[in-house]
Amino acid sequence: MSAATRISPPAPIPLICANWKMNLSASEAEPYAAALRARLGDRSADLNKAFEVAIAPAHPVLDRLGRALEGSGIALAAQNLHAEESGAFTGEVSLRMLEDLGCHFALIGHSERRQIFGETDAQIAEKAARLAGSAVKPILCVGETLEEREQKRTLEVVERQLGSVLDQVDGLEGAMVVAYEPVWAIGTGRTATPELAQEVHAALRAMLETRWGTVGTQTRILYGGSVKPSNARELLSQPDINGALVGGASLDPEAFAETALACLN
Ligand code: PGA
Repeated sequence: MSAATRISPPAPIPLICANWKMNLSASEAEPYAAALRARLGDRSADLNKAFEVAIAPAHPVLDRLGRALEGSGIALAAQNLHAEESGAFTGEVSLRMLEDLGCHFALIGHSERRQIFGETDAQIAEKAARLAGSAVKPILCVGETLEEREQKRTLEVVERQLGSVLDQVDGLEGAMVVAYEPVWAIGTGRTATPELAQEVHAALRAMLETRWGTVGTQTRILYGGSVKPSNARELLSQPDINGALVGGASLDPEAFAETALACLN
């Protein structure tokens, strides 16, 4: 990211987060971690100074992946959690379970959770509330569908999604990460142009600054949707794009490392 494109005060340290979705098992995670560590090489020792890297595997993979990443500086992230503390919620995973495994981040409100599993803004706000003040930082995903974009409702939709969390949940300042992922760009090979993404990121930034002042300026807003080595640099050079949420391209450790290293240029 060039100094000329940075906003003032200085932009936050970029975060590049892999979202493996329902891919890669625990036994596949080990060679992946070894390959990623080898590719990032010495950089992984002081990784967190230049850019931060995280991986969100499926829940049953967290433990083995966490062990394989020990000492690397690469953070563990969960793809989801339940809003309740504990109880009779068959198939669900609690915050305490994620904390116990050393998770640093949890995705909430991913468009696949919203669209396929019917999660509402209210449920996502409850998850954010559960994470507030905990060791696990929320990565709140927002984004419009193709239909909403065509109806020119993009900003209305993402502002509603972010606003519902900001309105209902205290204590997220300085902890929450936002990820803008246009639904039409996820897994489709279609990426928002850097300018188009920047326009939405700037609107989200304005909202965060209105609520949180300079903490809003420092809040990381990631872009997601078909990010890969060939487009990462250009996207990450936008002033309000502070990292990436990478799905398909994160399944290959080489491609994911390349994507992460794009932050350095
Ligand atoms: P994609 O997925 O990179 O495969 O588009 C991104 C995401 O859904 O987080």
